[in-house]
Amino acid sequence: MTFELQSSTTAAAEQLHRKLAALGQDGYDLAACERYAAQIDEINRLKAERGAVVLAHNYQRPEIFEVADFIGDSLELARKAREVRGAEIIVFCGVHFMAETAKVFNPERMVLLPDRRAGCSLAESVTAEALAERKAELREIYPDLKVVSYVNCTADVKALSDACCTSANALKVAEAIDSEHVLFVPDQNLANYVQSQTRKQIISWDGNCYVHHQITPDEVNKVKRAIPGIKVLAHPECRTDVLRLADAVLSTSAMVRYAETSAADKFLVVTECGLSDRLLMEIPNKHFYKSCKLCRYMKMITLGGTLDSLRNLRFEIELPDDVRQGARRALERMLELGA
Ligand code: 13P
Ligand code: SF4
Repeated sequence: MTFELQSSTTAAAEQLHRKLAALGQDGYDLAACERYAAQIDEINRLKAERGAVVLAHNYQRPEIFEVADFIGDSLELARKAREVRGAEIIVFCGVHFMAETAKVFNPERMVLLPDRRAGCSLAESVTAEALAERKAELREIYPDLKVVSYVNCTADVKALSDACCTSANALKVAEAIDSEHVLFVPDQNLANYVQSQTRKQIISWDGNCYVHHQITPDEVNKVKRAIPGIKVLAHPECRTDVLRLADAVLSTSAMVRYAETSAADKFLVVTECGLSDRLLMEIPNKHFYKSCKLCRYMKMITLGGTLDSLRNLRFEIELPDDVRQGARRALERMLELGA
C-alpha cells in the first residue's frame, strides 16, 4: 500500500481556498491561496520572532483577517490599541489615521502601517490650520463652542479638538459634551445624522467619505423592491437620503452584531464592500447583499505588503510629542463621554 504525504502548507492552502472561495470573488484560486498560505506562515513566524501584534479594520481583505490578532471598527481598534501589553510592535492593517491613533496610545512601541499611501478622503478634508481658523471664527459667535472630531482625521486635527468620536459613539459624545454648539469635523453626513438625533446645534464641515457618499437612494430602493423584507443596514457616513431608507444606522462592528442577533436572514449592507466578507465568513447561514463599493485606501494593504512591513519594519508612524499628547487628550475624552 502507498501513502501520499501532503505537506502542511498544501493542506493549509486547500483549507484557505475552501474558506475564501466561499466568498464568491475572483482572485482566490488554489494558486493564489498557496501563495497566501506561505505568506501567512511567514507573517506568523515573524510576529512571534519580533513580538508583534496585528490589528485589522473590518474593511480589510479577507486574507488579512487570517493574520489579525484583532479585527474591529474604529472604536474597538482604538480601545484595543490602548490596551496592548507585552508586544514590541503593532502592525496596523487599516488606514493612516487609525495607525496614528495606535501610536498616540503607544508612544514607546513601534507602530507600522504596511502601505504609507493608505489615507482617507475624510482625513484629507480638514487641516489643523483650517480648523483653527474656523474654530476662532465660530467662537466669536458661540463662545461655548466645542469641537468634536470624527476619528477619521489626522492627529494634529484631533489635538485641536475637545473630544473625538467614532461612528459608534458620535451621538453620545455630542450629547455629553458641555456645550450647546458643536463644530463637528470632518464628515458632513455623520454631522447631519447626529443633528437629526439631537436638539443641540451641530455645525458641520464640508467633508465626506468618497466611498459612502457615492451610494444613492436609487441603488438601495432597487434592492428593497427586488427583495421584499430585506433589512437595510447603513453606515452613518452615507448621505441623509440613503440613511432614511435604513432599518438601522450602525458602525461596521455594530452591523456584525446586529446581523448575528437579528431574527432576519437577509441584509443589504450599505457600507464598504469588505465588511460583507467578514459577515459571510462569520455568519454563513444568512444572506448579505453588498454595495460593491471599495475603499481604495483600505485595499492598499495586502498580505505581501504586511509581510514586507514586518520583515523590513516599515512604514513607521511617528508623531511629535505635543501632537501626540493633544490627540490623546481628545481620544481619552471620547472614551469617557462615549462610555
Ligand atoms: P467604523 O468605525 O464604523 O468601522 O468606520 C470606519 C470607517 O472608516 C468607515 O468608512
Ligand atoms: Fe476613509 Fe471612507 Fe475609506 Fe473609511 S471608507 S477609510 S472613511 S475613505
